[in-house]
Amino acid sequence: MEHWTPASWRSKPGKHMPTDYPDLAQVTKVEQMLRGMPPLVFAGEARRLKSLLGEVAEGRAFLLQGGDCAESFKEFHADNIRDTFRLILQMAVVLTFAGGKPVVKVGRMAGQFAKPRSSPLETQGEATLPSYRGDIINAMEFSPESRTPDPNRLLQAYAQSAATLNLLRAFATGGYADLHNIHRWTLGFVAGSPQAARYEELSKRISESLAFMEAIGVTPESHPSLHQVEFFTSHEGLLLGVEEAMTRVDSTSGEWYDTSAHLLWIGERTRELDGAHVEFFRGIRNPIGVKCGPTMEGDDILRLMDVLNPKNEPGRLTVYGRFGSEKIAERLPRLLRATKADGRSLVWAIDPMHGNTLTAANGYKTRPFDRILSEVKSFVEICEAEGVHPGGVHLEMTGQNVTECLGGARALTEGDLADRYHTHCDPRLNGEQALELAFLVAEKLKEEGARPAKRASAG
Ligand code: PEP
Ligand code: CO
Repeated sequence: MEHWTPASWRSKPGKHMPTDYPDLAQVTKVEQMLRGMPPLVFAGEARRLKSLLGEVAEGRAFLLQGGDCAESFKEFHADNIRDTFRLILQMAVVLTFAGGKPVVKVGRMAGQFAKPRSSPLETQGEATLPSYRGDIINAMEFSPESRTPDPNRLLQAYAQSAATLNLLRAFATGGYADLHNIHRWTLGFVAGSPQAARYEELSKRISESLAFMEAIGVTPESHPSLHQVEFFTSHEGLLLGVEEAMTRVDSTSGEWYDTSAHLLWIGERTRELDGAHVEFFRGIRNPIGVKCGPTMEGDDILRLMDVLNPKNEPGRLTVYGRFGSEKIAERLPRLLRATKADGRSLVWAIDPMHGNTLTAANGYKTRPFDRILSEVKSFVEICEAEGVHPGGVHLEMTGQNVTECLGGARALTEGDLADRYHTHCDPRLNGEQALELAFLVAEKLKEEGARPAKRASAG
């Protein structure tokens, strides 16, 4: 294999990266500035996540990954960060309690800004302009100035990521995530819903267990895991200039780590074997992911794994299926068989969002909650039938009370979408819908755990 450097991707064809900056020299200058900025994460943390994902790959843990489709400068607020963080905590509690397995918590947060778009141009009325590509590149407003890429946005995204990560670290270790606070994590607008009642019931049982444990001497002081959580960040590694600038040699191991996030993934639209993204990703030592849509064949996935995880290390690679509720039954089994028959170690997770997007009659891009649920259910069942661990879920969600996906306990309709449609890109689950999904996954995992281990007998 050819020699890798953080810049070797530059000689390969790269997609979905902007080339229409008015002044490309300015981009180079900003990337140079980023090279001098402190890392956002420490390589040891990325290694820790890799080892936890190794547990997932072996069937002993579950991955919960979620957050905005696209973070934005406008919605950058402590409350938004806190609400998504606590929603992830709540969901993790549900999944841990029912599934009986540790949950690895990863936010699509603190760096999830750049978006690949299906069309580079957008037409409104008579005017055609470059598409919005995420706040790290241009702005959403439909005007020539807003849609012109601006390199200063790269610096603003770095600053926002640093501040977001700082708050997440404070929440994770500073006491907010203490299991004793479990009753207080319920989001205001979720209170009163069927999900809230189920969650309350579960919190009560956990509080009773905590009281019992304290009585026999198991306290937050003796067991820090009761008092804090491990929380990791992730984003799609789309803008390779930025990722290259954040990639540093780790002094402990002497290896290259992309210090912009703990985990990065390659999107469905940039996963060509000979493309720039695969080239960049093969050289960084972080745990990485790849999205896997309905066109992926068994052979493709094995070739990708040859390049991205040549040593077959558990936890190195997570594959996120995103087929759509109607296609998963036809597409997923052959992929599971191909990787299993070849003895490949990987985390199989499901992204039930990106294959289930549609445009409502009133023009809103949306996703029916029942299709999202259906794809998750199929995922667990198919994995189970193939003797593969259903390793995790990857969701677009927010702690905010938005109206972006149809259905759920409150049966949101197309007419409701306009009420609180705030996403900067794809429609997200709101807190209530996300919690409902967590309960469903928990039930499915419990069923899986209760059945005689097919995995073992299938060899
Ligand atoms: C995304 O995760 O927001 C995304 C663009 O997904 P995909 O690459 O699967 O289309
Ligand atoms: Co999306």
